[in-house]
Amino acid sequence: MCVLAASLSCPSGTTGPAAPATQVVQSQDELVVFFTGNELGSLRPCGCSGGQLGGLAKRPAVFDRVPASRRLLVETGSLIAGEGEQELIKFRILHEALRLLNYDVVHLTGRDFGMATRLGLLSDPQPPLHILQAPEDGQSAVFTRRFTVNGRDITVNIVSFRSPAALMEPPAFVLQPHDPLTVNILILDYVDSKPWMEGRPTDLLLRSWLAPGVECVIYPSATDEPRLLSNPGNGPLVFSVGRFGRYVCRLGITIEPQGPGRAESASEPSDIKHQTSNIKLHFTSIPLEEKLPDSEPLVRLYRQYQQVVAQSDLLESHPRVPLPKGLVFAGSASCQRCHEAEYDQWSTTGHSHALETLKKVGSDRDPECVLCHVIGLPYEGGFVNEAKTPHLANVGCENCHGPGSEHVLTAGQTPPGQPQPACTTCHTPEQSGEFAGHEEEFMKKIVHGKEPAAAGNVKH
Ligand code: HEC
Ligand code: HEC
Ligand code: HEC
Ligand code: HEC
Repeated sequence: MCVLAASLSCPSGTTGPAAPATQVVQSQDELVVFFTGNELGSLRPCGCSGGQLGGLAKRPAVFDRVPASRRLLVETGSLIAGEGEQELIKFRILHEALRLLNYDVVHLTGRDFGMATRLGLLSDPQPPLHILQAPEDGQSAVFTRRFTVNGRDITVNIVSFRSPAALMEPPAFVLQPHDPLTVNILILDYVDSKPWMEGRPTDLLLRSWLAPGVECVIYPSATDEPRLLSNPGNGPLVFSVGRFGRYVCRLGITIEPQGPGRAESASEPSDIKHQTSNIKLHFTSIPLEEKLPDSEPLVRLYRQYQQVVAQSDLLESHPRVPLPKGLVFAGSASCQRCHEAEYDQWSTTGHSHALETLKKVGSDRDPECVLCHVIGLPYEGGFVNEAKTPHLANVGCENCHGPGSEHVLTAGQTPPGQPQPACTTCHTPEQSGEFAGHEEEFMKKIVHGKEPAAAGNVKH
C-alpha cells in the first residue's frame, strides 16, 4: 500500500512502502542512491520561458530508471527559503510530495525541523517520513539500509551531522574501524554549517577532520547546479546537490570484484568515479529537463497547492510600500483617451493579457507569479486583486512609464512618476531566457509611437 493523502494515488512505478531500515533486499550489480535537496520553496519552474529545469513531478521519471529494490531516495533538506505564510504552505506540500515520491529518508535542517514542528507534521497520524536530524551541535544521527549486491551485503549509512562543533571533534562512528562493505554518507547541515566553511578549501577542510571511514559527503550548495567538490581518488567524494530542485544527484555504488583497487580518473567533471576499498562510487547529476514526463499524482499535488494559495489572502496581505509624492496607478484604460495609438498597439501585445495567462495555468492568485504579470503589486495604490483593482490587471502602460495619477489629472502637464522599471526587472534570465541578446527584437514587438510625444500621437 502506498502512503497517500486523500484524493492522491501512487506515483507511477513505485511498488509499495519503503522497506524497513534494516531489511536486506535483492539486487543486480549496482546500487543507486538518489539525492535531492535545497528546493528552497521551488515546487516547479514558473513556465515563463522555455528550457527551464526542475519540478517535483519530474523526479519519478529519473528515480524509476532504477528498481525500488536497488535504490535509496534521500532528501538532504533546506526545503524552504523563508518563514512566511506562503513558505508554510509550500512546506506542507513539499512534505507531502516526499511522501508521494516514497523517499526513504529525509534530512531536515534546523529551519525545516522548526517548520515541521510548527505544522504538526512530525506527530502526523499518517505513516510518517523517516526523518533524520542530529539532535545537537556536534552530534549525529544515522539511517541504515542493507542491500545485497552480487551475493554480498552492502550497508549504506546516511548520517546527519551537525556542525560546526563537529569540526573540532568528529563523532565516534567516523573513527571506528572501517568495514570494507559499508558506505558512510555524511550530510552536513546546510543552515548551520555556512558561516564556518566560507572561504575554506573544501578538500583540505574535510580531509583534515574526516577519518577514512567516510566515503561521501553532501556539502552545502552555493550554486544552482550540483557541484563535485573533491578530486577523484583523493579522500571522500564530496558534492553539493544544487539549488531549486533543478537536478537529481545520482550516486552509483558497485563492488569491485578484484578487491581493493586504485582510484580511477574521470573523463568529465559530472561523471566521476571514486574508489575506496572494494566499493566504487560513481557520481552523476541529472538535469530535470522539460521533456521528462510529469508524474500525475505530483501534478495533482501542485494543483492542490495552487488552490490553497488561491483561497489564502496572500495577494491581499502582500507587503506594500507607498509610491513617491502620493502617486497611485491609474490603469491602462485611463491612458486610452489621450494616447489611443499607443493603447491600440499595447492591446496587441502579450503584456495586455498577462494576468489571463496566469489564469490559464491556475496561478493568478499566487503573488510570486502575479508580481510581474500586473501593475504595481508591491506598492500602495497598486494591484490588490481582480475584484478591488480590475484596472490594474495585466502588464500595463504604468509598468514601464511609472504611476500616472498626477499625469492624468494634469492632462499631461506633469510626466508620469517613478518608478519606471527596466524591461529586465521582469525579463530576467530565468523568466525570459531569450531576452538577453535579443533586446531589439523584443523592443520591436512592443514599440509604439516612433516619434516620442509627437503631436499626432497625443490627443489634446
Ligand atoms: C488627458 C490626456 C492624457 C491622459 C489621460 C494621459 N496622457 Fe500621457 N500625455 C498627455 C500629453 C498632453 C502628453 C504630452 C506632454 C508633452 O509632450 O509635454 C503626454 C505625454 C505622455 C508621455 C510622454 C512623456 C514624455 O515625457 O515624453 C507618456 C510616456 C505618457 N504620456 C504616458 C501616459 C500614461 C501611461 C497615461 C495613463 C496612465 C497617460 N499618459 C494618460 C496627455 C495625457
Ligand atoms: C512588469 C513586468 C514587465 C516589464 C517591465 C516588461 N515586461 Fe515584457 N512581458 C512581461 C510578461 C509577464 C510577459 C508575458 C505576457 C503574456 O504572454 O502573458 C511579457 C511579454 C513580453 C513580450 C512578448 C509579447 C508578445 O506579444 O508576444 C515582449 C516582446 C516583451 N514582453 C517586451 C518587453 C520590453 C521590450 C520591455 C521593456 C521596454 C518589457 N517587455 C517590460 C512582463 C514585463
Ligand atoms: C520576474 C518576473 C516574473 C515572475 C515572477 C513570473 N513571471 Fe511569468 N513571465 C514573465 C515574463 C517576462 C514573461 C515573458 C517571457 C518571454 O516571452 O520571454 C512571462 C511569461 C509567462 C508565461 C507565458 C509563457 C508562454 O509560453 O508564452 C506563463 C504561462 C507565465 N509567465 C507563468 C508564470 C507563473 C506560473 C509564475 C509564478 C510561478 C510566473 N509566471 C512568474 C515574468 C515573470
Ligand atoms: C513594455 C513597456 C511599455 C509599455 C507596457 C507601454 N509603453 Fe509606452 N513606451 C515604452 C517605450 C520603451 C517607449 C519609447 C520611449 C522612447 O522612445 O524614449 C514608449 C513611448 C511612449 C510614449 C511616447 C512616445 C510616443 O511618441 O508615443 C507614450 C505617450 C507612451 N509610450 C504611452 C504608452 C501608453 C498609453 C501605454 C499603455 C497603453 C504604454 N505606453 C505602454 C514602453 C512601454
